[in-house]
Amino acid sequence: MNKRSITDLKAEELKGKKILVRVDFNVPLDEQRKITDDLRIRAALPTIKYLVDAGAKLILCSHLGQPKTEEEKAGLSLAPVAKRLSELTGQNVLMVSDCIGEVVKQAVAKMNNGDIILLENVRFYKGETKNDPEFAKQLAENAELYVNDAFGTAHRAHASTEGVTKFLPGVAGFLIQKELEFLGSALNRPKRPLMAIIGGAKVSSKIGVLRHLLQKVDTLFVGGGMAYTVLKALGYEVGKSLLEPDFVNEAKAIMAEAKAQNKELILPTDVIIADSFSNEAKTRVAKIDAIPADWEGLDIGPETIKAWSAKVQTAATVLWNGPVGAFEMPTFCKGTEAIARALAETKAVTIIGGGDSVAAINKFGLADKVTHISTGGGASLEFLEGKVLPGIAALKDK
Ligand code: 3PG
Repeated sequence: MNKRSITDLKAEELKGKKILVRVDFNVPLDEQRKITDDLRIRAALPTIKYLVDAGAKLILCSHLGQPKTEEEKAGLSLAPVAKRLSELTGQNVLMVSDCIGEVVKQAVAKMNNGDIILLENVRFYKGETKNDPEFAKQLAENAELYVNDAFGTAHRAHASTEGVTKFLPGVAGFLIQKELEFLGSALNRPKRPLMAIIGGAKVSSKIGVLRHLLQKVDTLFVGGGMAYTVLKALGYEVGKSLLEPDFVNEAKAIMAEAKAQNKELILPTDVIIADSFSNEAKTRVAKIDAIPADWEGLDIGPETIKAWSAKVQTAATVLWNGPVGAFEMPTFCKGTEAIARALAETKAVTIIGGGDSVAAINKFGLADKVTHISTGGGASLEFLEGKVLPGIAALKDK
């Protein structure tokens, strides 16, 4: 990584210093506001522990959700996270009721070396998402250094991820370093063959990813709802399957590009079709040239599962983003489960990015069988698209 990180700083640059640490504590909560998955909190621990051990004063800052109304704000306090973080670190994490202003100033003034405070949800202010310089300045004013470890939010040019670096020198934390190392080496210095499995509902949201990946991979599998637009572009009738007619030409262009670059683009050869979008629907297996007009494809079929699983075993690196079927319904989860299992079984380096594929690997209990699970949904997608992530670009160069 060409950006400075916390390990580039000397002990005296950390000891006793007030450090604003941007983390991504945007964790799922249930109706009782209990955290249902603390992966993102645990992922921030190496940076937090390193800075605590170095004797810094940690001012943690994060968003939670996308609160707009006062009612939404009421349910999106970071207080449950402070509690969980206290348990995980074994030290009291003080929850501050605001993220700027007098209350923060007073809390920081009372801090000892190695203390941790957590500021309230930074998105309670409009200035955050607007990247308002005045708000960024207020966030920065109680600190002497800025550490960004919020990989999941690095694709947002917000006040706490980008604007704040105009007022404080910014370096990367361990999570950002780790994510860039895994995603970056998979894309730019992979062990070959490099294969990518891309799924998810809409091809429109992943056109950029497909285009960029085609330049990098040896083999590209396209599954999920998005495959039907590509199949349509090949001339197949897809019945009531998810189809984005405006993107059929884009899909044709991508296939032409794959051919021109001599890349293998693999589509399902059979699918599970259903008479409605429901877990209780009538289902059967159909070859892709035999989808009836009033049925829809909701998962890859057994022949496809067999072929894709075998092919994945011949990869040296596999990237997976997006489920290959409507896996949230048990009737249509076999394809996604088989992909998760194939990744768990292969000796290849396996990297999973994107909220839904991460949810899938967790659902099948295989999270500890893959090399790297990205904490970024949108961020990892934009990285795979080859886009610059503003939260990282804003940090100091080495
Ligand atoms: C995420 O969950 O992908 C990140 O925390 C970013 O959240 P956002 O999409 O609300 O900006």
